[in-house]
Amino acid sequence: MPFYVVRGEIPHKRHTQFRRPDGQLYKEEVFGTKGFSGIQSILYHTYPPTAVRRVEGPVPVAYVPEEAGPLRHRHFWTKRLATEGHPIAARQYLLGNDDVLLGTCVATQSMDDFYKNGECDEILFIHEGTGTLESMFGYIEFRPGDYLVIPAGTIYKLVIDKPVRYLLIESASHIEVPRRYRNEFGQFLEHAPFCERDLRPPVYAAPVANEGEFPVRVKARGAITTLVLAHHPFDVVGWDGYVYPYAFNIEDFEPITGRIHLPPPVHQTFAGQNFVVCSFVPRLFDYHPEAIPVPYNHSNVDSDEVLYYVRGNFMSRRGVEVGSMTLHPSGIPHGPHPGTVEASLGKERTEELAVMVDTFRPLKVLKPALAVEDPNYMYSWL
Ligand SMILES: [Fe+2]
Repeated sequence: MPFYVVRGEIPHKRHTQFRRPDGQLYKEEVFGTKGFSGIQSILYHTYPPTAVRRVEGPVPVAYVPEEAGPLRHRHFWTKRLATEGHPIAARQYLLGNDDVLLGTCVATQSMDDFYKNGECDEILFIHEGTGTLESMFGYIEFRPGDYLVIPAGTIYKLVIDKPVRYLLIESASHIEVPRRYRNEFGQFLEHAPFCERDLRPPVYAAPVANEGEFPVRVKARGAITTLVLAHHPFDVVGWDGYVYPYAFNIEDFEPITGRIHLPPPVHQTFAGQNFVVCSFVPRLFDYHPEAIPVPYNHSNVDSDEVLYYVRGNFMSRRGVEVGSMTLHPSGIPHGPHPGTVEASLGKERTEELAVMVDTFRPLKVLKPALAVEDPNYMYSWL
């Protein structure tokens, strides 16, 4: 995260005595990245974060790729996946490589356990539903269109109010806001499509000072290990720093438009190592009198392109539905579907809402995706 936040009570000096009302010391935890050289936060726990009663597992998390077929464009109707339930266990991983995993989840129940991705930053793009992300940093109420950016190591739970459908982007590297949107001190620049005011860090929650047995499912090394903590994990009386979960709503992305078609980097929202996340939001079309609003045919020589369709009419596509996920791999060109170029001429605006993930290394299709694949997509440009 690019800016400093403080919540709750913290001592004036770091690494000094800071006491609970009963006279005992709070337990300080430095929660940092890149071996004390990256951004960090410091949390003050009621109980030692190291106090574990039992370790259980591991339960492997397998990503089984399909047997590679011919190179082709792919289309998956993710809304037709049958799995739903627990906000983490019901995740369906659909595409992935060593940099990023993409999946969807339909969460119909609140968690009574806790989750921590021990290795990856996560983005949960809330497509439908509402609820609350509770974590050791406080809570964030979320709604459709929210990107929830959750740093690796954050212990959290999802409380579901209305059933939630989300797109999962699980990143082996830290999620950042593009450098070109920020000045040398990290502050957002005037030309950035969003700024600090649009980001929602956690709201402070009083520490939960409960002892007992609290299972935290930790995903790391290709498996889930359960750490049964001896205390509630949300026992933090205060914290400060640059690492914390936050929400950014896609409706707060201010589209950049031009007289003639502008390429996807104007839609970029986040960056990870070897991939980017872009937001396609309702916007005015290009305003040159002869402009062609839909994109030209293009070859992604260096990247695979994944689009997740959220809402509206998708101007350059036929046959996709809400919840569709398309994969346009490097090596073959793609472009607008027949008829969509002419249909776009003279249109003044689009209401489409979509999330794009471009990866700079090839993605593999994972087996659960095959059950909801459109077999004819490759030929849909004829
Ligand atoms: Fe494209």
